[in-house]
Amino acid sequence: MAKARVAVLISGGGTNMAALLYAAKRPDSPYEVVLVASNNPDAEGLKLARAEGIATFAQSHVGLKRADHDEIMHNHITKAGAAYVALAGYMRILSENFVEKWDGRMLNIHPSLLPKYTGLHTHQRAIDAGDSIAGCSVHLVTADLDEGPLLGQMEVAVLPNDTADSLAERVKIAEHQLYPRTLADYVSRATNPDYLTSKVREIALAQPEADEVVSHGMPCFGIVGGKKFAYVSIDHHGDGKIALLVKISGAEEQAMLIDSDAERYYRPAYFGDGWVGIRLDLGDTDWDHIGEWIAKSWRAVAPKKLTKFLDILGSA
Ligand code: GRF
Repeated sequence: MAKARVAVLISGGGTNMAALLYAAKRPDSPYEVVLVASNNPDAEGLKLARAEGIATFAQSHVGLKRADHDEIMHNHITKAGAAYVALAGYMRILSENFVEKWDGRMLNIHPSLLPKYTGLHTHQRAIDAGDSIAGCSVHLVTADLDEGPLLGQMEVAVLPNDTADSLAERVKIAEHQLYPRTLADYVSRATNPDYLTSKVREIALAQPEADEVVSHGMPCFGIVGGKKFAYVSIDHHGDGKIALLVKISGAEEQAMLIDSDAERYYRPAYFGDGWVGIRLDLGDTDWDHIGEWIAKSWRAVAPKKLTKFLDILGSA
């Protein structure tokens, strides 16, 4: 499996960047750091990245409009072939356009247990509030500062004589543990059977009267007391694939689909012509499309009394 290419954006010391970089040196790391970029040409972290043989890029934001600076950064990140961006102490508010371009592929680390203490001075605020537990969070970046979906958190005990500095130092140790692991898990999701099964489950169980059983050792979704409409096939008989199996009209449709994209669609062994396998582990799964497949498959096996009810709703 090719490693996911990550660009790390920093503004200062870059200790989190260093943690990401050194974790990536493990042979089993699912990601590699292909660029370290900064809005601060003097950022200490750039020197370290260079010494470690990582490509770097710096462009001061001074005198540039926010959107123009972001565009320069974006162009360099894409030129480096990065598929993900990891913000690590990047002290810039990002333009909406930049955030949109990296939607679902940009992570940030924040030194608090979000949703507590967004913004700055998180450690002092935790101490002032008398918190006994502080910590750090990794989240996806959305347009709202520090408010994107959480991907991971780590708690850190506050000591009675902690200052903002001493607490910050300890939280950083936790950050350096949390960030590389969370990033590794996140980029691995595209090929993680548990994650892919949970995505299918969420869609399949949202169909009317749907339930889940295990059939032929596979997670299988059907209509309560009725027929099956979806299976998740995980390395079935050692075929090395993670796929969704759904109902189709027959051999002709099956052949047409395989012909249209032979990497994605296949004839599932032991299932015959009435089913097609759709690979979920190619790294580019369109979940809206998978949702349509599952709904169509449900419809193909649902008893009239259920589809009739839906048709009435649909035409209302
Ligand atoms: C970290 O505390 C991180 O949580 C925050 O900025 C700081 C960056 O530190 N977003 P470093 O440059 O990684 O040492």
